[in-house]
Amino acid sequence: MARWHGAQRAKLSTSLSARIPLTHGAVDSTRQIRNIALIGFMGTGKSSVGRMVADTLHFTFLDTDDVIQARAGISIREIFDNHGEAVFRDWERRLVEELARRTKTVISTGGGLPANEANFVSLQSHSLVVCLWASPEKIYQRVKSQTHRPLLHDPDPQAKIRELLTAREPYYRKADVLVNTDFRSAREVALQVLHQFHMAQPVPQ
Ligand code: S3P
Repeated sequence: MARWHGAQRAKLSTSLSARIPLTHGAVDSTRQIRNIALIGFMGTGKSSVGRMVADTLHFTFLDTDDVIQARAGISIREIFDNHGEAVFRDWERRLVEELARRTKTVISTGGGLPANEANFVSLQSHSLVVCLWASPEKIYQRVKSQTHRPLLHDPDPQAKIRELLTAREPYYRKADVLVNTDFRSAREVALQVLHQFHMAQPVPQ
């Protein structure tokens, strides 16, 4: 059975009000970690960090929103407007099932994708699941000038961010690694993800 280097479950995040402590644990040695899945709220930098990590590892980069948009031939915003959120979530669910066959891929997931137990479990069956965390204030700063996220088309986007973040926090917290992005550049976050991925590789026998 494979052995793993040292402490793997590095929770580097802070919560809404810096409540989550830095904790360490171990990734189960029976896990088959062939990929990296980046989860986390909108505006936490999953795509930029994911591209950097994929480039460094010479892995394929895959963004679930990009795949869904390409297949639908319309934008996420239009999918929500024309078909509704439930259809979008179903397309996400089906894509997650396909991802189980991938190797050497860095997967950037839509912010709501892991808030579905089956999606989360499926990702963990083949990926090191890394959550990029950010405070609601930082998220708002990063997304306020963007218009492509239908869930933030709300009269009070800041309240919406807090509401969604609170509802999703239990799912995000289940990640193998939690990285607080509030005060880190995308490059620093990418280095942290790479470090955790290397630590999760089995020691050659
Ligand atoms: C969503 C996040 C978006 C996109 C869709 C729904 C969410 O992806 O999947 O707008 O539910 O948080 P990003 O997290 O990449 O912005």
